[in-house]
Parts: sequence; C-alpha cells; structure tokens
Amino acid sequence: MNKKLLLPVCALSVAILLGGVSGALHAQAAARAPDVYYEPTPENVVDRVVSLAGVRAGDIVYDLGCGDGRIAIAAAKAGARGVCVDIDPVRIRESRANAAAAGVEARVRFVEADLFTVPIADATVVFVFLWPDLNLKLRPRLWNELKPGTRVISYVHTMGDWAPRETVKVQGRYGQRELYLWTIN
Ligand SMILES: C[S@@+](CC[C@H](N)C(=O)[O-])C[C@H]1O[C@@H](n2cnc3c(N)ncnc32)[C@H](O)[C@@H]1O
Repeated sequence: MNKKLLLPVCALSVAILLGGVSGALHAQAAARAPDVYYEPTPENVVDRVVSLAGVRAGDIVYDLGCGDGRIAIAAAKAGARGVCVDIDPVRIRESRANAAAAGVEARVRFVEADLFTVPIADATVVFVFLWPDLNLKLRPRLWNELKPGTRVISYVHTMGDWAPRETVKVQGRYGQRELYLWTIN
C-alpha cells in the first residue's frame, strides 16, 4: 500500500470501529431503557385492583411493567398465578425477593423483557400502570391477542376512546386517581 495512504486509511478504520462499538453500546442501552419511570401503585389501590378484576383461583394475571411485583404477588395471594414483566433487571430481582418473602414465588412467573414483545395470550387479567401513549401502543395487542372475557385494568391512564366497563375512584399517592376496567369481547 502507498505509505501516504496508510495513515488516513488506518485513522478511518479506527473511527469506523469506534463508531460501531459506541453505536452498538448505545443501541443496547436504548433497547433496555424503560419507556416510563418506576412508580409503585399504592397498596390500597393494589387491593382495589384485585377486587375490581375479581381475581380468583385459575386466573393468570399479567402486570406489564410490574415494578416491585406487588400486583402479581397480590394476585398470587388471592389464589391466581401472576406474571411479572419488567424491562428493568433491578425490578425483576426486587419482585422475586418480594414474592419469596410473601411465600408465593412458585405462583409468579418473572419475565425480564420489553412488555411489547412478551406473549400475553394466556392472560385472563392484564394490569398496566404505564403512560397514555404506551396504553395506545399496547391496545392493538390487547385486542388481537387476548381471549374474550379477559379483564384489562389500567391505573391512572385511559385507553383512548375505549369506553371502560367500570371506572373507580381511588386515593392515589398524589390525590384522587382512577382505575379503569375493560373486558375484551
Ligand atoms: C409506573 S411503574 C408501575 C409498576 C407496577 N406495575 C405497579 O403498578 O406498582 C412502570 C414500570 O414499567 C416498567 N417498564 C417501562 N417500560 C417498560 C417496557 N418497555 N417493558 C417492560 N417494562 C417496562 C418500568 O421499569 C416500571 O417498573
């Protein structure tokens, strides 16, 4: 190779390599960043979710973005099976520890993944406490994948123009909030 060309070619190769590595690292971090920050549903509201959904033995209760696992754990305590999905590994570790402490670890499945990619067809109850645009993004999957009769509950945020079957006012952390219930038909 022409020596005059060697230095620029090497510099270009290093730049491409570093660009690729930093791009890959960036992509990895972005892919795992939660879409919404963590805020737990207050315990008094958790009880209301369980009663509003009528959670009972035989139910499979998904919390998509499960935080510390409190909804899935409450469902397991009510005799159902819980599925705790969170993209944040810290939250999944916390959920496992909380389920173990509550003696229901065997009744809860833990899934560290993006909620938008997790199969949900076996759910009989789906709970979300996310964000309005995330609910809208999730809506087609709820409609297409869930069986008729599956209950969907959202804390605080609506599902756009889906009319809820029931709306319940609850005392949230920062004042009065709503729980919305829909049934897939
Ligand atoms: C507002 S918190 C609700 C926590 C829990 N559901 C509760 O009600 O106590 C939202 C949770 O969603 C998780 N999350 C955000 N984006 C996610 C995604 N794309 N896939 C899975 N979990 C996600 C966050 O890590 C956080 O734990």
